[in-house]
Amino acid sequence: MNVTYQHRINIAIDGPAGAGKSTVARLVAGKLQYVYVDTGAMYRAVTVVALERGIPIEDDARLGELAAALDISLLPGDGGQIVLADGDDVTEVIRSREVTLSVSRVSACAAVRQRMSELQRRMAAAKGIVMDGRDIGTHVLPDAELKIFLTASPAERARRRYLELGDDPGVTLEQLEREISQRDRMDSEREIAPLRQAADAVLIDSTGLTIEQIVGEIVSRADQASQTTAAREN
Ligand code: DC
Repeated sequence: MNVTYQHRINIAIDGPAGAGKSTVARLVAGKLQYVYVDTGAMYRAVTVVALERGIPIEDDARLGELAAALDISLLPGDGGQIVLADGDDVTEVIRSREVTLSVSRVSACAAVRQRMSELQRRMAAAKGIVMDGRDIGTHVLPDAELKIFLTASPAERARRRYLELGDDPGVTLEQLEREISQRDRMDSEREIAPLRQAADAVLIDSTGLTIEQIVGEIVSRADQASQTTAAREN
């Protein structure tokens, strides 16, 4: 029997916005038959509901109450992951620019982070998870058997986002680069669970690498980690 299947591990993929984490994490999960968890989508879902309900994104107390009561589900869908917030499909709206510009502030709220971390740990309890985010290797799953820190230069990350926006981007490349740098700063400088590479994470700079190369590298490391874990447990 396949060792990877026998000894399921958890894989944490952290890194800044636009480094390719979600594409890579989804493909790695598909190859290993693991479940992909996009934690950024969870912070985005909280942000959507806060904006809908008119909760000021600086109001930590109300954001905390909202997050504590909010049910977030991630379901596999044909075109990728479907995100439900209290049963409502928010898959598309979580990617809007309004949400993208507000989510860093919402994700800096301690009570929101605490609730999301708790939900994420529950999702990972059965192993066989590929989870991407900012604090997965350092905070949410410090015992993950494989930790990857995926990065790319800000210019490269802005270029990728720009191409994703299609023919009518509605924003200039320079503006995107500024917004990405600003989000990096907010995510790295916040007090709670800031974006940083875990000491035991493998650094992969995706600038100039193909998706296939990155996925291949992670899958091969996952096989090694799975075998090491299996050997330790036997
Ligand atoms: O990966 P993303 O762009 O969808 O993430 C949205 C925001 O959520 C981003 O500003 C950082 C934050 N985030 C976080 O603080 N911790 C995570 N584990 C995932 C995302």
